[in-house]
Amino acid sequence: MEPLPLATASDCLVVRAWAPDEAPALHAAVVASTEHLRPWMPWIAHEPLAVEERRAMIEGWRSEAADGGDVVYGMWAEGAVVGGCGLHRRLGPGGVEIGYWVHADHVGRGVATEASRLLTELAFTVADIEVVEVHHDVANAASARVPEKLGFVRVADISVPAAEPRAPAETGRRGVWRTTRQTWRG
Ligand SMILES: CC(C)(COP(=O)(O)OP(=O)(O)OC[C@H]1O[C@@H](n2cnc3c(N)ncnc32)[C@H](O)[C@@H]1OP(=O)(O)O)[C@@H](O)C(=O)NCCC(=O)NCCS
Repeated sequence: MEPLPLATASDCLVVRAWAPDEAPALHAAVVASTEHLRPWMPWIAHEPLAVEERRAMIEGWRSEAADGGDVVYGMWAEGAVVGGCGLHRRLGPGGVEIGYWVHADHVGRGVATEASRLLTELAFTVADIEVVEVHHDVANAASARVPEKLGFVRVADISVPAAEPRAPAETGRRGVWRTTRQTWRG
């Protein structure tokens, strides 16, 4: 698959694939946000990681991105980390799923919505991408607002396979929001 682009930006937000030398900045943001993220992000169960483990993780993300797989981005405003997001190839050929988390000190200011807008634009610059989706636990009302504000359509609520890791507040039901190249550009 064609590699996904590594960076995009607007006047107020920079979204770029994490670089290994940004491991300390990612570390500080996750440490400051751990309890805010714990209810909704299954990966928080593995925290705290050491900075060196995070650097190795970033190197793994970079090589996956270079091979045409997922891209994991940092979100920056005025030189500070305000969260993280990703384009994930979980939908199979032709689609990508957006994921996001926002630093505890920066929620409620439109960061996730602006990052998702930028990532949707970015995804549709890739020739083989026709569909972009956001999936969130049905109890995560703040997350649901993000695709709703961007005009995505809620196309389904699905059950998450029991084997998938679940964060403490997750119910096991997921809302699926979708936009297509044609709808988005129209
Ligand atoms: C969900 C999350 C990413 C939203 O980030 P954010 O930058 O605050 O999002 P935005 O400001 O772009 O939009 C959030 C919207 O949700 C609304 N909202 C916030 N808390 C809410 C709640 N408890 N119930 C309903 N709506 C809520 C906000 O008012 C805003 O909507 P509005 O613009 O219409 O007022 C952030 O809260 C977060 O990091 N949560 C923990 C991790 C997570 O849940 N990630 C998503 C997993 S699918």
